[in-house]
Amino acid sequence: MTMAISRYGARVLPNTEQIIADVAARGEFLEGPQVAQFEQAFAAWLGGDVRAVAASYGRMAFHYILMALDLPKGADIVFPALTFWVMPEVARAAGFNPVFADVDPLTFNMTPESFARVITPKTAAVVPTHLWGLPCDMDGILDLARQHGAVVIEDCAHALGATYRGKQVGTLGDAAIFSLQTLKPLNTYGGGMAVAHDPGLAARIATLVAAEPAPTEALVKKHLRLGRMQRVTIRPNVFSFTLFPILWASAYLKWNPDVYFWEKIRPLSPLPMEYRERYSNVQAVIGLEALKHLNEWTAVTQTHAKRVMEILRPVFGIRFPEVPDDRTHAFYQFCAYLPNRDASVLACLKRGVDLETLHVDVCPHMAIFGGSKAPVPGADATTAAVQIPVYESLTPAQVERVAQVVAQSAAAR
Ligand SMILES: Cc1ncc(COP(=O)(O)O)c(C=O)c1O
Repeated sequence: MTMAISRYGARVLPNTEQIIADVAARGEFLEGPQVAQFEQAFAAWLGGDVRAVAASYGRMAFHYILMALDLPKGADIVFPALTFWVMPEVARAAGFNPVFADVDPLTFNMTPESFARVITPKTAAVVPTHLWGLPCDMDGILDLARQHGAVVIEDCAHALGATYRGKQVGTLGDAAIFSLQTLKPLNTYGGGMAVAHDPGLAARIATLVAAEPAPTEALVKKHLRLGRMQRVTIRPNVFSFTLFPILWASAYLKWNPDVYFWEKIRPLSPLPMEYRERYSNVQAVIGLEALKHLNEWTAVTQTHAKRVMEILRPVFGIRFPEVPDDRTHAFYQFCAYLPNRDASVLACLKRGVDLETLHVDVCPHMAIFGGSKAPVPGADATTAAVQIPVYESLTPAQVERVAQVVAQSAAAR
């Protein structure tokens, strides 16, 4: 029987459970020397003379950067109109005013031109998000920010391993954040990394993190448990008999279960208590080990994406961003437009290939940010996109099947 292929895959160390057991046996589950080692190894891996500080979440890494920068309260911070709602909400909760720049619907990214349209003397910072793993056009964004004295904080949650003009993302602006959630390019079952060039800024971030309480066993174990559940349920042999039948049935009932997979949209002020813990040593040990595999994982994912592009490029009506020569794409997600999106997604599902429809938010329309009805043409257009599985744990044969199924389903429209 052919197994169904899930929209998400996790990058998993084969000896994860052994690593966890060993750290616990050493009595270094919550606190230990590996947090500092992981921070140093992460910064060294990025290169570019940066320092890294581990935090409980990517969003908290962003919170500490904002606090450490000491920007004027009430200042504008520019985000792409298409991003994960949590980032502008963290800025709002910290007393700033999120402002949204439209995105290019083909690259899904903010551009220097869209940033230029919203920058004003009130702009204190800009957060270029390398969405899905494709770096933004950073030189244009950096030039404009410098002219206006705005700080550049890269959102690299999706993009660890992507490069722009030979440099790793995260080393291009003044500061950057990475997410270490289960489905992200470096999976430590939760956590985040704040990165900064200026040693003074990095030291202030580290001081803020150090002032948080030590990690608690209950919460760290919860993260590991949830991560284990996620990584097991998306394995083809488990997914085929668990989530897949639910997705299949719901497609016929025109019910969208995706909403239950994602975090509830809510104000983050005050910040939830469970955010306010330091990063745990057991996660750092997993991170140190995972870092050794990162280049290989990125390369496999890129090879998968290249093959999908070869198969989909000639199909009439399918569009996806070509990767410019001056950058590399980490392909956290492979996003594309298919003709007659919903019918194509259903046709793929019937043949065992689960495609995600857009999972980030067109923020200016969200009630939490004022619910503007004004069109944001680029970001609005992206709601027609799909995410095609190209993750590292797929075999070349599975990738071939995904691409053929998508091509045939789209061509039949
Ligand atoms: C684009 C983007 N930025 C930031 C984050 C925040 O990362 P975390 O969930 O680790 O706080 C995410 C998480 O999914 C994201 O998708």
